[in-house]
Amino acid sequence: MKPVKVVDDIYWVGAIDWNVRDFHGYATYQGSTYNAYLVMDEKITLVDTVKKEFVDEMLARISQVVDPKKIDCVISNHTEMDHSGGLPRMMHRIGEEKPLYCSKVGHRNLSSHFKEAWNYQPVENGGTLSLGKRTLNFLETRMLHWPDSMFSYCPEDRLLFASDAFGQHYAGLERFDDEIGEAILPHAKKYYANILLPYSALVLKLVDKVTEMGLALDVVCPDHGIIWRKDPGLIIGKYVEWARQAPRRKAVVVFDTMWHSTEKMAGVIAEALGRAGVETRLMHLRSWHRSEVITEIQDAGAVLVGSPTLNNGLFPTVADFLCYMKGLKPQNKVAAAFGSHGWSGEAVKLINAEFEAMKLNVVHPGVKSAFVPDDQVLEACVDLARQVAEALPA
Ligand code: FEO
Repeated sequence: MKPVKVVDDIYWVGAIDWNVRDFHGYATYQGSTYNAYLVMDEKITLVDTVKKEFVDEMLARISQVVDPKKIDCVISNHTEMDHSGGLPRMMHRIGEEKPLYCSKVGHRNLSSHFKEAWNYQPVENGGTLSLGKRTLNFLETRMLHWPDSMFSYCPEDRLLFASDAFGQHYAGLERFDDEIGEAILPHAKKYYANILLPYSALVLKLVDKVTEMGLALDVVCPDHGIIWRKDPGLIIGKYVEWARQAPRRKAVVVFDTMWHSTEKMAGVIAEALGRAGVETRLMHLRSWHRSEVITEIQDAGAVLVGSPTLNNGLFPTVADFLCYMKGLKPQNKVAAAFGSHGWSGEAVKLINAEFEAMKLNVVHPGVKSAFVPDDQVLEACVDLARQVAEALPA
C-alpha cells in the first residue's frame, strides 16, 4: 500500500474500495476509490480523508511518507462520510488540537456528524492558507455535491483539489488519466449522471467562474477515481457538454412488465424509433439498474416509460425509477408513456403526472393496452414513436 506521487511533495494517500457495489443507490460495478492527498510543505497538510473502514489503508500510505503525528493540519473539502468518515481516527492520531479547515457549512456538518470539539477553522470563499512554499485558495462550490463542498486550489502547482467534481466510481491500480486513457470516460459520465446532474446549472456557472478567474490547471485531483494530469481540459469540456443537456436524436425506452404485454409494446416502440433514425436503448428495469438507465437518459433527447398497472398503481420498479429520475432533474427531454392493464389502468396517467412534475415535454397522451396488445394498440405504439421521433432534433 504505497503512496503515489502526484507532483513533487504532493502524494495520493487514499484507499481503493474494490468491492463496493452499492453507493447510496448507485450501482458501482467497478468499485470506487476515496482519494486523500498529503502535501509535504512547511505545514504538512492532509486534504480530505477516506471512508472510516479504510483509515488503516490511508495511514499505511501516509506512514511511508511521514509519521502521521507530524501532520500539521487537515482540509475537509467535503463532509460526506466517504471523505470525512476517517476524520475521528485521523484527528485522534495526529492530535485533536490541530487545525481543521473547512467551509462554514462544513463546520456545521462535521459537528453534526461527529460531536467532537475539534479545532475548526472555517474558511471564507476566496480565503487562502499559506502552507510554506505553497498556498491553498478556497473556492466554495455549494451543492457540488453538498452545500458544504469547496475546492482547494494550489497556484504554485496549478493543481486543484476538486472534491467530488470530476470524479468517477472506478477501482483500479491506475491513478492518472494517462494510465487509463478515454476508457475512464464512461465511468465519469455515469458519475455525472447519478451524482451531479441535478446541479448542472451550477456546474456551468462554476466553469464560467473558473474561466473568469483564469485559474490555470495542470492537475485536477478529484476525491474519487483517477487524477487528471495529461488533459484536465478533457473532463472539464465533458462536464460542460453533460451540464448543457443539449437534446440528441436518442431515446431510452424503459419499462417493466408482468405478462409480457408492456414488454411487447416497448419492443414495437423501440423498433419504430430505430426506423425513424433515432438511436434507441431498450431497458428492462429488472435487467438494468436505475443508475445505468439514468446514464443513458442523460444524453438522450427522449425518455419513454412503460408500466403495467398493478393494484391501481405503477409497477414497483417503475415507481422506484421515476422517483430516482425525478430527483436527478433531467432537462430538455421529450417524454411519452405506455402500459398494459387488466381492468383499472392507472399506470399511464401516473407516469404522465411524474413527467409533468419533472417538466418534461410530454408529446403524446400515452398508449394503454387492455391485457395483451392487439394490432390496433401496436399501431398506436408506432404512432407514439413517430411523434417522439418528430419532436427530436434531426
Ligand atoms: Fe464522494 Fe458527496 O461524496
